[in-house]
Amino acid sequence: MNAQSDAGAGSHSFDLNGQVALVTGAASGIGRAIAIAIAEHGGHIAVVDLPTADAADTLAAVQAHGRKSVFIGADVTSPTQMGEAVARTQNELGPLTLAVNAAGIANAAPAESMSVEQWQRVYDVDVTGVFVSCQAEAQAMLDNGRGAIVNVGSMSGSIANRGLLQCHYNSAKAAVKHLSASLAMEWAQRGVRVNCLSPGYTATPMNTRPEMVDQMQVFADETPMGRIAAPAEMGGPAVFLLSDAASFVTGIDLLVDGGFCAR
Ligand SMILES: NC(=O)c1ccc[n+]([C@@H]2O[C@H](COP(=O)([O-])OP(=O)(O)OC[C@H]3O[C@@H](n4cnc5c(N)ncnc54)[C@H](O)[C@@H]3O)[C@@H](O)[C@H]2O)c1
Repeated sequence: MNAQSDAGAGSHSFDLNGQVALVTGAASGIGRAIAIAIAEHGGHIAVVDLPTADAADTLAAVQAHGRKSVFIGADVTSPTQMGEAVARTQNELGPLTLAVNAAGIANAAPAESMSVEQWQRVYDVDVTGVFVSCQAEAQAMLDNGRGAIVNVGSMSGSIANRGLLQCHYNSAKAAVKHLSASLAMEWAQRGVRVNCLSPGYTATPMNTRPEMVDQMQVFADETPMGRIAAPAEMGGPAVFLLSDAASFVTGIDLLVDGGFCAR
């Protein structure tokens, strides 16, 4: 019986006290909100984002909860940089047991004229970057005998958005969902759980890109709850998936979408 199933037998706590989490894309938006939620529940945080990112707000918020935090500049598409990010996390904060992969990009173009370079860049960051991150994180977690990974997908992996020209993004997010389930099956008996968290429309800098601004009210109206999400509303679902409360949950896609995908 491994460490995680031991915990599952006796504890269903949401507490992450003293655990070490690596969060990619944590300088902004959903990654930042999830990093802060993990800190609220006791976790120390490696804030991983592009070297050019400004992570000061995230670091300060984590420290305000009395937790340790460190900024590590890394590009999620680089296996070398992500391997170094995991090594530094463990050296500075302790054994890695939690990870959230929220780094991502989005843009738009009509499918019939989208360049292959534009298509490929979204796949590089949004799919390969998630795989590279999971691989680096899981190598440490499998060594440590336990771990939980949450990959941030999107409801765009389950529905094709009306009004947005983003066939590359939508199909990339479908790949994140199935990648997460596939990794979950590989590691299910080795103490590492992998789940996908798929937000609906959420108020982050990603949605200030020009093609989104006029759409946001339409998207709010189309969402059954009548509004888009605040980034902080992704925190609770992520903490659940990372915690022993979800000890028997692996390979799922948790839609957090205000009812958008309900049938
Ligand atoms: N905002 C939404 O409505 C929404 C909805 C569903 C899913 N998502 C997903 O949530 C995740 C976070 O998006 P967000 O809305 O918070 O966007 P955001 O732009 O606020 O944050 C994305 C972060 O990822 C970082 N990043 C980008 N490329 C990177 C790379 N190569 N290496 C390392 N870091 C990189 C950016 O620097 C930024 O800090 C993304 O995967 C996105 O696809 C967002």
